[in-house]
Amino acid sequence: MNTEFEELLRANCAVIEDKLKEYITDKDDNGLGKVMAYSLLSGGKRIRPFITIEAFRLFSNDDIKKVLPFACALEMIHAYSLIHDDLPCMDNDDMRRGKPTSHIVFGEAEALLAGDTLLTYAFEVLGSNQYVSDKSIRLATVALSKCAGFSGMAGGQMIDLRSGEKIGSFEELKRMHSLKTGALIRCAMLLGYFAACDEPDSEVINDIESYAINLGIAFQIRDDILDKIANSDELGKPVGSDSKNGKSTSLSFMSIDTAQGYVDRFTGEAISIIEKYYNGTKRPLIDLAKYMVGRNK
Ligand code: IPE
Ligand code: IPE
Ligand code: MG
Ligand code: MG
Ligand code: MG
Repeated sequence: MNTEFEELLRANCAVIEDKLKEYITDKDDNGLGKVMAYSLLSGGKRIRPFITIEAFRLFSNDDIKKVLPFACALEMIHAYSLIHDDLPCMDNDDMRRGKPTSHIVFGEAEALLAGDTLLTYAFEVLGSNQYVSDKSIRLATVALSKCAGFSGMAGGQMIDLRSGEKIGSFEELKRMHSLKTGALIRCAMLLGYFAACDEPDSEVINDIESYAINLGIAFQIRDDILDKIANSDELGKPVGSDSKNGKSTSLSFMSIDTAQGYVDRFTGEAISIIEKYYNGTKRPLIDLAKYMVGRNK
C-alpha cells in the first residue's frame, strides 16, 4: 500500500475519532452514554466515514467541517448495526474489534438500548449540521434512512437471518450483500456528495452509487473469506461465526480462490466507474478500493 494513502487513512481516522468523542461527551448521566461510547470509540477501520470525507473532497474544496456531522452520523449507524449484529438473537458473537462485545460487558438489554440510541442520535447529529443548507440535510436524511432501513442494511440483515435456507444462488447472495453491507457504503458516498452540493446531478449519483455497490459486495465477500481463513486475534472478531450460525455466504457457492477472484472483479468494476472523476495522482477512493481487496481485518 502506498504510504501517502496510509497517512491519509490515519489522518481521516483521527479527525473522525475526535469528532465522535465530541458528540458522545456529556451523554453519560443515565449510564447509556458509557455503553454507546464503548462501541463507538472502540477502534474500527472507519472506512465509511473515510469514504464520506473523500467523496466530499471529490466534489468540493470547502472545509471538511461541512461533512463531518454526516460522516459521524453514518459511523453511529454502523456501530449500532454491529452491536445488534453480535447479539445472541442474531450472530451471537462475543468478540468485536478485539474486545468483548457490548452485550457481554453490559448485558443484552443495555446493548440493545445503546444500539437504538446510536440509531436515533445519528439523525440528531445529521440534522444539526450547521454548515450545510437545509436542502443538503433533507437529501442526507432521506439517504441515511433508506440505506439503513427496510430497503437497506436492516432489510439485508433480515435476509441474512434466513440465509441458511433461503439463498439459492450467488445472484441472491449478491443482493443480500448489496443491502446488508453495500447500502451503508452507498450512503457514505451519497452523504459526502450531499454535503458538497445540494443540486445533485443524476448521472453523478448513478456513478457514485455503482462504485459503492461494487465496493460493498467486494467488501462483504472479503469479510466472508476472512470468517474462514483469518486469525481471530488479528481480525478482532471470532472466525467461523458464519458456519456456526449456518449462514449462506459467498463460500457456500464457491472456493476461496474463486471468491477472491470476485473480490478483485467487483473492486476493478468500482475503480473503473470512479476513475474518470480524478485527474491528478492522488486518488483516495481508488486507493481505498485497492487496500480493501487484500485486507486481513
Ligand atoms: C464489519 O464492518 C461489518 C460488515 C459489514 C462486514 P467493518 O469491517 O467495516 O468493521 P469495523 O468498523 O472496521 O470494525
Ligand atoms: C454484518 O455481516 C453486516 C452488518 C450489517 C452488521 P456480518 O455478520 O458478516 O459482519 P461481522 O462479520 O459480524 O462483522
Ligand atoms: Mg451478521
Ligand atoms: Mg456478524
Ligand atoms: Mg462476517
